Parts: sequence; C-alpha cells; structure tokens
Amino acid sequence: PQSIVIAGGGSTYTPEIILMLLDNTDTLPIRKLKIYDNNEERQKIVADAVEIILKEKAPNIEYLATTDPEEAFSDVDFVMAHIRVGLYEMREQDEKIPLKYGVIGQETCGPGGIAYGMRSIGGVLELVDYMEQYSPDAWMLNYSNPAAIVAEATRRLRPNAKILNICDMPIGLESRMAKILGLNSRKDMDVRYYGLNHFGWWTDVRDKEGNDLMPKLKEYISQNGYSLEALGTDPKENDPSWMYTFRKAKDVYELDPNTLPNTYLKYYFFPDEAAQHSNPNYTRANEVIDGREKRVFGECMRITDMKTAKDTNFHIGDHASYIVDLTRAIAYNTHERMLLIVPNNGSIVNFEPTAMVEIPCIVGSNGPEPLTQGEIPRFQKGLMEQQVAVEKLVVEAWIEKSYQKLWQAFAASKIVPNAAVAKEILDDMIEANKEYWPEL
Ligand code: G6P
Repeated sequence: PQSIVIAGGGSTYTPEIILMLLDNTDTLPIRKLKIYDNNEERQKIVADAVEIILKEKAPNIEYLATTDPEEAFSDVDFVMAHIRVGLYEMREQDEKIPLKYGVIGQETCGPGGIAYGMRSIGGVLELVDYMEQYSPDAWMLNYSNPAAIVAEATRRLRPNAKILNICDMPIGLESRMAKILGLNSRKDMDVRYYGLNHFGWWTDVRDKEGNDLMPKLKEYISQNGYSLEALGTDPKENDPSWMYTFRKAKDVYELDPNTLPNTYLKYYFFPDEAAQHSNPNYTRANEVIDGREKRVFGECMRITDMKTAKDTNFHIGDHASYIVDLTRAIAYNTHERMLLIVPNNGSIVNFEPTAMVEIPCIVGSNGPEPLTQGEIPRFQKGLMEQQVAVEKLVVEAWIEKSYQKLWQAFAASKIVPNAAVAKEILDDMIEANKEYWPEL
C-alpha cells in the first residue's frame, strides 16, 4: 500500500480528490494519506472535514494534516501537487491587469499565465526539494498551473527529479468525446495528440478495435464544439464561462479541420473576442471565489459541524481519475497510455528537442516512455515555436532575474498586441507581484 501526500491541502479540489482516491483503494491501496499546505488557516477548513470523511470511509488509513514539510514529506511514495501560489486573489490580478489594456486576462495564457508562472516556479521547486530531502525515492505528480511554465522550470532546474507533469484539460475533453461517441468511458479510446500544455491538437481517435472515430467527432464538433447540449444535457450547463469555451471550440476547429483542438487555443486565435467577452470588474477568479470556493468550504464546515459526512454532496472527483491511473502506472508498472508533459527529445521530429511537449506516453515504474508523433504541419509548428519561446523566456527571466527577457516574453505572446502594451502590463504585474516574484 502507498503513502501519499497532497500538497496544496487547502485547495478546493482536495476533498473530491480524496473521495476519488478512497473509491479506488481496491486497485490502489493506501496506507497513509497526508495533506500539506503552507497556509494553516485555509488548510484547516478542508483538513477537519477530511478527517471525518476518512474516519467514516477508511478508518484504517493513517491520516495527517500538517504545515510542517518534514512531517509532510517523510515516508511518502507519492506527492500529488496542486498548489496555487498567491491564491485566487492573485489569479484575480492575473486576469484584471491585462484587461485594463484590453488584453485577455487568463490564468494560464498570455500575460496572466506568465505572471502566474513567475509566482509558481519557486513554490513547485520547493516541493521537489522537500520530496528529495525527506523521501528520495518518491514520485511527484504535478498538476499545479501554469503547467507549461512549471514543467519547463523543472526540466531546466531539477532535470533529474522524479516529477511527472500532467494536465486535466485533455482528460476532460476526451470524456466529452466519449459521450459524443456514445462510449462508456474515455478509456474506450486510444488517441494521438501533440502540442504544448493548453496548446495542442488531437490527430487520431480510435476505439479498442482500431476503428477510426474521427469522422463522427468532426461531424459533431463542427456543429457544436465540445458542448454536449445537443445530446440533451451538459454537466457544465450552469457554468456560462465553460459553456462559452466548449461552444467556441467549433470556430477553433474550423482553422484546421484535420485535427481536433484543445479549447485553450481560443485565447490565441480569438483574443479580442475573449477580451470583449470578459467583465473587467468581475472575472473568472471572482466567479470561482463566489462559486466553487464558497460551496466547497461551506460543505467542509457543515461536515465539521455535523461531525459526519454521510449525507455530503461532495461527489467523487471522477475527472481526476487520471491521478489514480498515473499513480497506479508508476506503483504497479501498468504501462498505461497517458498524455503527459515531457521533454520532446525527438518525439515531434521537426520540433525543438528541449521543448516540454504534451504527447502520449506509456507509463510504467521507470516513468514515461514518450510515443513518437512524427512531423507536424507548418501551421502548428509555427504557433508552437512562438509559444514555446514565451515559456522558455519566462523561465530564463526567473533564473536570471531579467526584466528584458520577461518583457520579451510578454511581447512574444500571441495574445499581446504590441511591445508597448507588453511593457505597461509587465510594469503593473511587477507591482502587483512584489511579494512573489524575484526582484528583476
Ligand atoms: C481546466 C484546466 C486547468 C484550469 C481549470 C480552470 O481544468 O485544465 O488548468 O486550472 O480548467 O478552471 P476554473 O473553473 O478554475 O476556471
């Protein structure tokens, strides 16, 4: 049985991830579960509820909530990292500062993603170092954002660390594809996909008999994007921001009907529309603070007050099942095929070997073995070259404390209209991130 620590214990995602782990103990037995955060007050809300959940559902699992790195990282097999440096308050800044200049504000794309990257690098490296100090044989599964920049930073600065970078967006979209196709699960499909994180394309989707499912998907997506409304209901129908994104994928698809796009590409192809569609005084961060955060923390406090979780409305974070799959693949050498963010190293033949790319890998006890994707077309290659330059410049700027390189990163982002606006946004971001960024 495994010992697991979840870093970012105070995350709104923690309770549902724990329920998902508990639901899978038949194939992934757990001996110890710890949650760790550097924010004691925030973690306590979640920790108290988790204690009750575990007592009721899995009394044999040893449990600890701590803010002490040594306690947290000693005797663990896996570190599941989903930290948010600066919390939603800083996400709000990432979104609102660019919007002041008419530029889309988004937590992982464009200026917002760069600012968030500059905050996250140090936090994620700190976790890697704790893991290596206290449990040198452990693996870190990292899904902290912005995943692309964080992954590049770990490649550059901790090249030998046992860290796997993974994102839930392709998983979520593949679950939608399975529904469109009338399949039970995304696991009934084998996919080919390439790109950078939040910047990729599916080139092939097949069932387990090898039948090509792309024609049916294309027919549906060309009409509806990834919205499931045409099938009756959509699980996100009460979330207008996500519904807009899923519908908009139809327009992104039209740019290259040979492939199926990741939804995040909308920010790069339709940045003006995305900016106009935003309310500069009430962004996604505000929606999440008033929605998910209130709901999750409210439910945690209710569980703690009632001293039982028997009637909880927390459900198993099923879309997070990829975390179980990945853990199991490493722990039991399952050779599961999964999309991970790994050094390219020739997998995309005509693309920079040191780029961190998102591609299918076979995962076993020794880590991921990436699958070759061959040559990619000029359209995607050109876009990816520009975006990977942004991501690498951010990491170089962080290492060298270079204003110049960070300005270049902002100016090189496809989302930013010109170098003057890039500089204005950068200067505001420096002010807002004083507590978090290295001094440039
Ligand atoms: C998807 C992305 C994540 C991102 C999240 C934001 O799951 O893959 O990288 O953090 O969406 O969702 P939210 O509801 O917080 O806007």
